[in-house]
Amino acid sequence: MSDLVARHLDVIAPVIAFDTDLVIERAEGIWIHDAEGNKWADFACGTAVTNLGHNHPAVVAAAHEQIDRFVHSGCVFRYDSVVEVGEKLSAIAPEGIDKFGFANSGAEAVEAAVKLARKTTGRQGVIAFRGAFHGRTMGSVSWTTSNAKYRDGYHPILGSTFTVPFPHPYRWGMDAEEATDYALFELEMLFRHEVTPKNIGAMLIEPQQGEGGYYPAPPRFLESLRSICDEHGIMLVFDEVQTGFGRTAEWFAADHYGVNPDIIALGKGIANGFPLSAYGAAAEVMDDWPVGSHGTTFGGNPVSCAAAVAVIDTMGPLLPNARDVGARATERFRKLAIDHPTIGDVRGLGLMIGVELVADRETRDPAKDAFAHIQKYCMERELVIIECGPMGNIIRFIPPTITTLEEVDWAIDVIGEALEDYEQ
Ligand SMILES: Cc1ncc(COP(=O)(O)O)c(C=O)c1O
Repeated sequence: MSDLVARHLDVIAPVIAFDTDLVIERAEGIWIHDAEGNKWADFACGTAVTNLGHNHPAVVAAAHEQIDRFVHSGCVFRYDSVVEVGEKLSAIAPEGIDKFGFANSGAEAVEAAVKLARKTTGRQGVIAFRGAFHGRTMGSVSWTTSNAKYRDGYHPILGSTFTVPFPHPYRWGMDAEEATDYALFELEMLFRHEVTPKNIGAMLIEPQQGEGGYYPAPPRFLESLRSICDEHGIMLVFDEVQTGFGRTAEWFAADHYGVNPDIIALGKGIANGFPLSAYGAAAEVMDDWPVGSHGTTFGGNPVSCAAAVAVIDTMGPLLPNARDVGARATERFRKLAIDHPTIGDVRGLGLMIGVELVADRETRDPAKDAFAHIQKYCMERELVIIECGPMGNIIRFIPPTITTLEEVDWAIDVIGEALEDYEQ
């Protein structure tokens, strides 16, 4: 164990889980380096954040320039970088989302989105979907069910919270249509037996579940939720904290579906590593939110906002590459599955790919030890990958959008060798 890891364990709360014991000294592009001259390709993007690769020169330059001017305003003075990021976001956001507030983390953005929905509708109920991850703060953890451990010991969670199934076709042994029908049926049963729609202010959903196992929503499911929300005056809230900013090879996952939310929550990749998150809604909704009924000291930090402006300027031209690399990766993983029975399913949008590892294809029993074996093998060959899903058996394949076809081919070759090694 390196000296730094030992010191880390001495003073840093172990509740904060780390995926590896690598010690990062510097990083650029897809690579991270340690102090001993070793390097690894970072296909974790810490976690789904450095979508432009580490220390993208345009982002770093924008942040440096802002640091030299001023670092903080704290909602006392108006400043340009927050306005510019608002303007740029309104140009790329799903239709109907045109005003934004800023915060520091995904959890804060989700909570702000739900507060806005409650205030706007005057209704307190929130519907969330099983397997969701919306954060770990006391509000957001109330809608997080990707793993029961996130709530263990923290009850009571927030009241007026209702959880219904998100379609997990592979896990349920169904096709997408059957899984959609079942999930919609359960929603109908919720309205029949537990709560009437007129008590619900927000329906909160990740268009592709992240931590919960990289399940993209079947299109008919999102379309149906949109019409149910319209019918009952419920605000549809998309948590695009993980799916946003090129991760799905579009600006937002909503772009894949042509379904627009009433409110959107953003974070992670928005500033490529600088702490920033955002929530957005239509101008008339935002304008009705009473002044001061929500706020922040650090949210919309000028340096983070300058970085976000550079992210948005840089990401657009990279989306075609992300689409090519994502399509190649999905195709290559599907080919790998022909020879490797450990691969049970390959799914996801763009560069947000889940590869589910199973002990038995018939029963779909998770291969519990497979990910650790594959991760170790890959790390010994300079590739960092991480997992997701409640059973830790899904490779979360999330290279940055700057990754080349050659680099993604190399990474999948390494994962293929790792599977070979595991299956021996
Ligand atoms: C979809 C989604 N929402 C919210 C969050 C919480 O973000 P943060 O950890 O920045 O609070 C995450 C983090 O993984 C996420 O993936």
